[in-house]
Amino acid sequence: MEVARVGAGGRFRPAGIMPSMPILDERTLEFFSRSPEQTRRVGMRLGGSLQPGDVICLQGELGTGKTTLAQGLAEGWGAADDVSSPTFVLVNIYRRPDGSEMFHVDAYRIDSPREAEELDLDALMERGPVIIEWAERMGSVVPAERLWINLEHVEDEHRRLVFRADGPRSKELLEAVRASMVGAR
Ligand SMILES: Nc1ncnc2c1ncn2[C@@H]1O[C@H](COP(=O)(O)OP(=O)(O)O)[C@@H](O)[C@H]1O
Ligand SMILES: [Mg+2]
Repeated sequence: MEVARVGAGGRFRPAGIMPSMPILDERTLEFFSRSPEQTRRVGMRLGGSLQPGDVICLQGELGTGKTTLAQGLAEGWGAADDVSSPTFVLVNIYRRPDGSEMFHVDAYRIDSPREAEELDLDALMERGPVIIEWAERMGSVVPAERLWINLEHVEDEHRRLVFRADGPRSKELLEAVRASMVGAR
């Protein structure tokens, strides 16, 4: 029996919505974390590959580990510290000693398309990698080329992370994570 196929671009799913069961293909990676430290380490492995223009979207209920993962991303990227931005209430800026920047957007309080637009993601992306926590609240402002990470509480310290690459660049990032996980804990 022929069933509907997901095409190469996988464009059948609306932006930002994960299927309840992931399609485990070459664009998808499922990872079970057993501790906050492990979640942070996964972030660190990905963080080292991030460049300006890259967008990492984090989606998951409160307490699933989005901020923990974001902290690992920043550490792996090489952040010296993080500072709240005086110009953007919802954005933390991480800096490296060389002056380069990474942005951590917390979209929890965004509740209108206009507020999402006012963040001016394009401007941030030109300056550095952008991590968006509660990315589903940003709606269509989120670029199509992004690595989407869905986090779910399983039990106690167990979390299920599903990475989905939505374009060629995020596919590269996904491959970097996949490679770094071989034999890693
Ligand atoms: N495997 C895990 N990965 C991440 N956090 C975990 C894990 N197990 C337990 N935790 C705990 O869950 C909480 C996650 O908090 P946080 O990262 O702020 O989540 P979020 O930003 O999604 O609300 C922390 O208290 C952390 O210690
Ligand atoms: Mg958080």
